[in-house]
Amino acid sequence: MKKRDLVALWDYTPEELAALLELAAKVKKSPAAYADALKGRTAFLYFEKPSLRTRVTSEVGMTQLGGGSLTQTPEMGRIGVRESVHDVAKNLERWVDVIAMRTFSHQLIEDVARHARVPVINLLSDLLHPMQALADLLTLKQHFGKLKGLKLAFVGDGNNVAHSLMVGGALSQMKVVVVGPRGHEPNARVLDRARAIAAKTGGEVGYTSDVDAGLKGADAVYTDVWASMGQEKEAAERQKLFWPYRVDGALFRKAKPTAVFMHCLPAHRGEEVTDEVCDHKRSVIFDEAENRLHTIKAAYLALIKGL
Ligand code: CP
Ligand code: NVA
Repeated sequence: MKKRDLVALWDYTPEELAALLELAAKVKKSPAAYADALKGRTAFLYFEKPSLRTRVTSEVGMTQLGGGSLTQTPEMGRIGVRESVHDVAKNLERWVDVIAMRTFSHQLIEDVARHARVPVINLLSDLLHPMQALADLLTLKQHFGKLKGLKLAFVGDGNNVAHSLMVGGALSQMKVVVVGPRGHEPNARVLDRARAIAAKTGGEVGYTSDVDAGLKGADAVYTDVWASMGQEKEAAERQKLFWPYRVDGALFRKAKPTAVFMHCLPAHRGEEVTDEVCDHKRSVIFDEAENRLHTIKAAYLALIKGL
């Protein structure tokens, strides 16, 4: 049987994505039923960038499934420096059952996935953050009871998180619109891909610089930092450009009165979002964070055991 990776959500059919979310919901409801599911299995976690949620949930998730994990951080070495990417992958596959990676280069994750016989999970690259989108879709599904037809407005930078939400939303028959300044639109190829998926499922994916148009009828208002990891030098310049897209009370009120506020975190409170919105009674940011745990467990189960 061919091994499966989770590098990008566009490798999944709508049915497969729905099944993953279903499994995550089951794991969330009955964690004890999966306490030994991955006994004796090991995850290798590789980080080139900082992390709180992803690192902790990837480690705790494996522990809760009866397995173990080990984490490599940048000071312990970077893949492709001491030896080739191919050779690293060929070593790792002899020892561990799954490789999960947070990198700058998306290509590096694809290369390890191509060479390794064991499943590879993308824990964030400069292009995509599929595990975040999975947790967000679970959060929305459990809050609204469905995904089909929901409108999510992603306000800010057309970044890795926006990209994965576009693809995951399209697969889930949602309407996803990225609302941000010109020059920081989502990647054109990712937009095309997400649109092609939406055309098949009946979803919709778009971009606008117009806040009123973008927020109109939104069920979820999502934002993320204006300068992602690796873009720190651009932070000051971006502050000015993104200021009109700051999610404050007035902007949040442009969405439906039932809309939820979402953020992958970490948040720069006072920049892309105010405390008022972050701590709003319709803010679901910590549900998203919790769901990172249930969704990584589902990914491990699906990729390692084919559940
Ligand atoms: N949302 C998220 O990926 O958080 P970390 O960067 O802390 O892992
Ligand atoms: N877009 C952010 C997400 C962090 C979870 C970044 O890449 O830094």
